[in-house]
Amino acid sequence: MLLHLSTWAEIAQYLQRSRVVVVPIGSNEQHGPTGLLGTDWLCPEIIAHEAEKNADILVAPTFNIGMAQHHLAFAGTISLRPSTFIAAIGDWVRSLAGHGFTRILFLNGHGGNIASIEAAFSETYADASFARQRAGFALKLCNWWDLEGVGELARTQFPEGHGSHATPSEIAITQWALPDSIKHADFAPPIAPSGPIRDAFDFRARFPDGRVGSDPGLATPAKGGELVKLAAQSLVRELVAFSSEPVPA
Ligand code: NI
Repeated sequence: MLLHLSTWAEIAQYLQRSRVVVVPIGSNEQHGPTGLLGTDWLCPEIIAHEAEKNADILVAPTFNIGMAQHHLAFAGTISLRPSTFIAAIGDWVRSLAGHGFTRILFLNGHGGNIASIEAAFSETYADASFARQRAGFALKLCNWWDLEGVGELARTQFPEGHGSHATPSEIAITQWALPDSIKHADFAPPIAPSGPIRDAFDFRARFPDGRVGSDPGLATPAKGGELVKLAAQSLVRELVAFSSEPVPA
């Protein structure tokens, strides 16, 4: 079930049978010469929407702007500051928890978001802890590449040139879901350099075409399809485990 294509009455009904919701979360940022700007929010959305086709789960709208200050020297990147991002996640959680959702899983598509999502969880729990109350809900962060079996599959598909930004695995996922948006370029060098991530102009000087350690030319729609199918199955198992986690009295 997709929240944005449901009515309030349908969500109220869903809450009678489940208190679990998944929120795809990512970033809108440059992904090298061939990667779509939406890659990091498209990947978790594609996986969650695929999972939803075969299981009774609820997927919230995608939180599609994240921690991308280091990509701002490339056209089209849109970023939040950590403080804005943390505040916005808190309001999403308070909205959903207010309706009765007690298990909120964020399916993340951007490594740069991890620290701030964890900080947002702490901020949100702190409301309850300082008030000497129980929060009444649990939050979970899952990176799509950490879903069971997915990292192993990506390492098998791309033993070399996976890298850490504009990776062939994430590019392959968007190629599978959006074949009309596949782009082509000659990569020189084939595998991009690696290095530290600092401010936007430092990033552009180190990584001139936007890639970090990767060869996105290895991506194919078929490999993307394999990753999506496996990730979608693992996500459903993750949601079942999360929903049946015992809560101490
Ligand atoms: Ni990415």
